[in-house]
Amino acid sequence: MPNSNPFNESLNIYQQRIESKLKFFLPQVSSLPKKLHAAMHYAVMGGGKRIRPFLVYAAGNALNASPDQLDAPAVAIELIHAYSLVHDDLPAMDNDDLRRGKPTCHKAFDEATAILVGDALQTLAFEILARADNTVINDHQRLLMIKLLAQASGSLGMVGGQAIDLASVGKKMDQIQLEQMHRYKTGALISASVELGVRGAGCNDNETLARFNDYAQAIGLAFQVRDDILDIEGDSAVTGKTQGSDIERDKPTYPALLGLKNAKKIALDLHEKALDALSHLGQKADTLRGISSYIVNRKN
Ligand code: IPE
Ligand code: IPE
Ligand code: MG
Ligand code: MG
Ligand code: MG
Repeated sequence: MPNSNPFNESLNIYQQRIESKLKFFLPQVSSLPKKLHAAMHYAVMGGGKRIRPFLVYAAGNALNASPDQLDAPAVAIELIHAYSLVHDDLPAMDNDDLRRGKPTCHKAFDEATAILVGDALQTLAFEILARADNTVINDHQRLLMIKLLAQASGSLGMVGGQAIDLASVGKKMDQIQLEQMHRYKTGALISASVELGVRGAGCNDNETLARFNDYAQAIGLAFQVRDDILDIEGDSAVTGKTQGSDIERDKPTYPALLGLKNAKKIALDLHEKALDALSHLGQKADTLRGISSYIVNRKN
């Protein structure tokens, strides 16, 4: 059985959990405006590895949080991520037609709807975190979570990284600039996922936060390096995205700057770094270790 190891079992369990939580928190397709709500469901449901929510659950679980404490931040980060993908695919950005094996949101609906989908998913993420009936997270933790998600999503995080990405098309970047761009556009949300899990567990200990942050920084960069590699050697039928999209648009990527072999070596080194950061933790952190390995070996 391909799925019968503890890591895959855990991934499946949390993927199923997040699917049902996302469905619960999205507005009903039958409520007005129906087209917008249908497009929100289209962009969020049915597809996606759910690696960011999985990180929230795994980081929280390593610190003994219950999944109930982590549902709201897990949903919130996935909604921000889904919004970022919808906007990333727009003609004004990467102009991609295929996402998660389906036509991109602006292709299945239209550009204006896709812009609004992104806007609505972003605000819904913060609404869910802020909701008063969320009694499993205390107000202090909740405020910290809202702040850290906002920072990771904004101009000093994901959106800033996207701005650097677009401004650098066709330009030569050095490795330091490339790393900085990747840390912003992708690393920030990955790091926020880990910190949301830590905060969701009620942990405010600086040393713990610093170690989890070292882990998160390493896997966050590795995630985008692997994404760059998959753009070249991935199979569209598996990635669900158009292969060669970066090359066609002359995007600065790790393989473009350093070659495939070096890019792969960097991803593996980052995996080692991530494991080092968790060396003080016992078995409780095995899922986090597994996620790091999954990130650098994934095929989609
Ligand atoms: C794709 O993210 C965009 C990047 C930040 C590289 P994922 O590879 O996590 O996309 P899904 O959610 O699994 O589709
Ligand atoms: C996207 O990076 C990062 C985001 C913030 C969405 P890419 O543009 O490389 O992501 P894909 O390859 O389209 O998923
Ligand atoms: Mg992009
Ligand atoms: Mg893209
Ligand atoms: Mg990419």
